[in-house]
Amino acid sequence: MSFSKAFKGSSDIVNFTSNPRDKVEIFPLTYYHVNIPNNNVLKSILLNKIVEDAKELEIPEGWFTHKLMTSFNGEPTGREIFFGENTEYQDMLTKVYTECFNKIFDRKFEIAIDNIWYNVYINGEYQENHDHLGYGVSPSHFSCIHFLSFDEKNHEPVVFRDPHRQLRSLSIELDKNNYSDDWTPDIKEGDLLMFPSYLSHEVRPGKPTPDYPRISIAFNFRVLYYDSKRHDRCD
Ligand SMILES: [Fe+2]
Repeated sequence: MSFSKAFKGSSDIVNFTSNPRDKVEIFPLTYYHVNIPNNNVLKSILLNKIVEDAKELEIPEGWFTHKLMTSFNGEPTGREIFFGENTEYQDMLTKVYTECFNKIFDRKFEIAIDNIWYNVYINGEYQENHDHLGYGVSPSHFSCIHFLSFDEKNHEPVVFRDPHRQLRSLSIELDKNNYSDDWTPDIKEGDLLMFPSYLSHEVRPGKPTPDYPRISIAFNFRVLYYDSKRHDRCD
């Protein structure tokens, strides 16, 4: 026995959007998008070094990508950009990233970068959908991607995926909400994105661009202090 009753409606008859409060959006998910003004300087200093050094790198275990070159498991010894003996490059990037965070954060803050690595895409490489949570190993609050070398006409951007997509599939989105379970930021060279480390994302296969490598620098960080509150949950 069914107790359901069907209603047939039409938006021509029922105008349900005359009052702004008839549609309320709640619980926004925020990522932050800034541009590094002097990225060209960074690119000219780092591009050739990264492309050369990356040739020695192997795909980390567990990564589902065919050819992506990444320093996720460490850079060639003695030639490190990050956490090496020579801190020239790291100091340069720290200064630039601090300027980005000063734009993004709205209170005094202190952060600790736990992992930082570069990715080199030359032959249209992809990277599978993943997040940066670490699963018990130095869990981070936020992650960043800096697009050091990015050709907006020929390179694939990053694509974020709604972490609530499974829950949302239990209901229905009306067409007027223009909902999509993925989001593609409009990336320009020199952009830096900061997003919650739980937010999964991917890079889809592109076309070969040997004359214009796509190079991103990615890192994860913990917020040690935000305003006067201590947030470090690891030490
Ligand atoms: Fe990632």
